[in-house]
This record gives sequence, structure tokens and C-alpha cells, in this order.
Amino acid sequence: MDNNQYLMISAYGSYFAEIPHYFVTAPGRVNLIGEHTDYNDGFVLPIAIDRRIYATARPMYGDLVKAKSVGFDEMEEFHIREELKKRDLWVDYLMGVVDEMKKDSYDLNGFWVLFRSDVPIGSGLSSSAALEVASGLLISSLFEHDIDRLELAKIARRAEQNFVGVNCGIMDQMATLLCTEDHALFIDCRDQSHRQVPVAFSDAGFMVVDTKVKRKLDNSAYNERREQCEAAVKAVAKNKKGVTALRDAEISDLDGIAGNVDDVIIKRARHVISENERVKKAVAMLEKNDAEGFGKLMNESHESLKNDYQVSCDELDRVVEIAKETGGVLGARMTGAGFGGCVVALVKKGSEQTFADKITAAFAPEEPDSREPEEGKEADLPDPPEVFSVRPVGGATVEKLDIKS
Ligand code: GLA
Repeated sequence: MDNNQYLMISAYGSYFAEIPHYFVTAPGRVNLIGEHTDYNDGFVLPIAIDRRIYATARPMYGDLVKAKSVGFDEMEEFHIREELKKRDLWVDYLMGVVDEMKKDSYDLNGFWVLFRSDVPIGSGLSSSAALEVASGLLISSLFEHDIDRLELAKIARRAEQNFVGVNCGIMDQMATLLCTEDHALFIDCRDQSHRQVPVAFSDAGFMVVDTKVKRKLDNSAYNERREQCEAAVKAVAKNKKGVTALRDAEISDLDGIAGNVDDVIIKRARHVISENERVKKAVAMLEKNDAEGFGKLMNESHESLKNDYQVSCDELDRVVEIAKETGGVLGARMTGAGFGGCVVALVKKGSEQTFADKITAAFAPEEPDSREPEEGKEADLPDPPEVFSVRPVGGATVEKLDIKS
């Protein structure tokens, strides 16, 4: 039994005075390239990372669910057979999964569950998908429903779309469930076909810079981008047969719609079309272990996200600029939905500390004295960015526990 499992089981005992039956882990993810392409039927290339959500549970008689998350004071409760309503709390992700499973007529009963997360929340590392997936895996295990992983990813995504209210694509849930160790997952989001691509650069690895700028789960901006992409598809489809998503369009098709649609629509489409091309090239670079080539594509991706898709922010841009100025950093880009959150960088072995130090120095407050809070007020200082290495790990795990009382 590893340490995390041991800690979860003993915490479960102290919260519930019971012994759990299953233990589940679900990793966060970093998307290496292919941003805002998943809901355009396009390509993505995420890895699962060694930051996980842990969950442990046992079934109970009746239909009461008790859910506790380490770090949150309240014990949340709801009844499976009652109508579930969003609470604007972490438990929405669990309730959303229950709700979708109810719609699919899975037979469910009460259970008591404990969660703990070391995926930073709201940082673009997909803590929400990890929580949905952990919930789905636990529930299917507790009530003996054999659901294949792709189907579970779809249930988890519907939970986020229908219950939580974020109209996301399928990337995060698939990454959390289907990634394997030392591989990136190349997904064709049109039909969800996927392939494992080895990540085996001989002298470089990935690092994450969490800017700590909280992505205000910017639903409206995210949905606005989706609508702009749909507008581009409509316009291109008038000139070209068979275009049902930006995945089907080429850059040259945009000449044909210039003047008919707002410039901003052209920019959004240009990002998505060029990003899909970059993902395919990035897969080729991974396959031939060309870290330098991969890094260049990451830089290009960031430029496109910043200028054409306009989902970056000052802090993300600053980190990417520092990365470009640091010897040994081969490429960097924002990862996830944007508007804050994380940068992923490809860094040569031996240059990790230099890069981390440069980030720390650049974000250190210039005048410590000006940080003094006004009398009677708490200091309101932004957290400094966190820099850490990540390696591709395997997807979510589930284990039946056999603990004697
Ligand atoms: C969020 C969504 C994903 C994807 C990314 C942007 O993480 O959940 O489906 O759209 O943003 O690439």
C-alpha cells in the first residue's frame, strides 16, 4: 500500500468511522499542443501528470451520499433519488456525474466518499476532469457497472457540460482516463480515436509554470470563442462543400470569407486551422525525438493563442518571453483554456534550475515596503508562480481494497 493510499484510508476512518472498499486515483493533465481545437473536431496532444486526485469510498444502504474533500470544512450530502441541483461547490462535479449516470439508467445507491487533490484547482491542469473521472470510476466500481473508459470520459464530459455548465470539449476527460506512462495521447476529437505517442526526448523534459492567476472559469469568453468558430464554419461552408467544423477548413479558405465576416472571426479560425497543423507536425517531432523542432511549434502555438485566439494574459506572456530568453528552454506556451493558469515549457536537462530561478526573480515584488497592508487589512499579494517538472504518467487507476477491521 503506498503512502497516499494509507493516508486516505486512515482519514476515511476518522471522518466516517468506516472502512472504504475502493481506492481511485485520477491525474491532472498538461496539454502539450492543440489548444481550443477539441471542440472544433480537431487534434490534441496531452499528457497525464504526476499530480492526482485521490478518492476512496464504500457503498451504503439507502440513497444518501456523504462526500467530504480534505481541505474543505463541510461534509456535503445529497440523495441519489432526489432531483440534484447545482451548489456552486466542488461537489457539483460528483453530483454531475451521478446525474448523468442516472440519465443513462445505471442502478446507483448511497455511498460515503472522501476526496483529496494535489492537482492545483483552477490552474488549467484539469482538476475538474480529474474529479469527474475519479467520481465516475468509483461509482461504477462500487455498483459493479462495467463502463469502458471512453464511455466514462463521455459521461464525465456531459457532467461538466450539463450540470456544471461549462461547454467543454472531450480532451481533459480522455487524457485523465486514457493516457499511459511515458506517452502523450494523440486524439482525433472528431471520432475520439487516439494513439499513444512515446515521449522520449534524450536530453529534455517538460516543466510547468503555474502563474497562480486564477482562471475565472471564464465560461463566457470560452463560449464566445466557440460561437466565433461556428460563425467561421458557416461562412466557409458557403464556399466549400463538406465543411462541418474548422477541422475541415484550410488557411486558404479564409481568403474566400474575408470581407463577409468580421476580422475577429478570421483570426479565431486561423488559430484553429494552424493549430491543427502544428499538432500533426508535433507528433512527427515526438516520433523522431526532435526536441528543438517540438519546442519551435510550442512557441508558434503560443503566438497564435495570444494574437489570433486572444486567450492569453500578461503573466502567461511574460513567462513565455522569459522562456525564450533562457538558454536551454526549447519552447513554451500557455496550456489549457487560458486567461490565466499555466505555461508548459520544454527544457533541456541541466537548465531546469536556471529557468525556475529566472521566473522567481522576474515575479519577485520590486519594492517590498509597498507590500505593507493598510492597517487592519490583510495583505492582498498575488502568490508567486510555482515552477515544477512534470513527466507523463498513466491515467486513472482503481483498486478494490481488502482491509480487515
Ligand atoms: C479546457 C476544456 C477543454 C479544451 C481546453 C482548451 O481545458 O475543458 O475541452 O477546450 O480548455 O484547449
